[in-house]
Amino acid sequence: MPNSLVAIFPGSFDPPTNGHLDLIARGARIANHLIVALLQNTQKNALFTTTERSEMLKECIGHLPNVEIDSFDGLLVDYAARRNANTILRGIRNISDYETESQMALLNRRMRPETETIFLTASAEHTFLSSRMVKEIITLGGDASAFVPEPVMRRLKTKFPTVKR
Ligand code: PNS
Repeated sequence: MPNSLVAIFPGSFDPPTNGHLDLIARGARIANHLIVALLQNTQKNALFTTTERSEMLKECIGHLPNVEIDSFDGLLVDYAARRNANTILRGIRNISDYETESQMALLNRRMRPETETIFLTASAEHTFLSSRMVKEIITLGGDASAFVPEPVMRRLKTKFPTVKR
């Protein structure tokens, strides 16, 4: 199909937040096919396994017809080449995201010019949200139920039985 937009939305998703879900739903309206690609566990402080993160994403976005959930390791551009993806989709919340994301986009474009990065501006209500902060709130016994979808909250409660709400 000419000009078909096959996009990858890559991330750690440890755990997926409401901000991720918003970007994925908006990305799915732009792309013909959207691959939500989990970076397989590389961080020592990961809270969830790749399988758990993939299951949570399936529960949250499995209903979107043109969205696929997959995982990858190694370089994102190599994965994009394997998947014949012409686009990488990333969200930007603030200036500090812009600095990191523009650096990644430029490096990725230098390594694989065929793959273009498109940025979506995070919705205003999610600009303060990050998986790292959600993990911190939960591990310190706080209530993160306003920041993550219900299937994620359920898993967090299983991992941390003392969690609020
Ligand atoms: O959700 P995150 O942690 O912000 O996602 C970061 C991610 C997965 C997009 C980034 O770490 C990545 O692309 N990793 C794969 C390795 C890679 O290609 N690194 C070079 C980027 S220039």
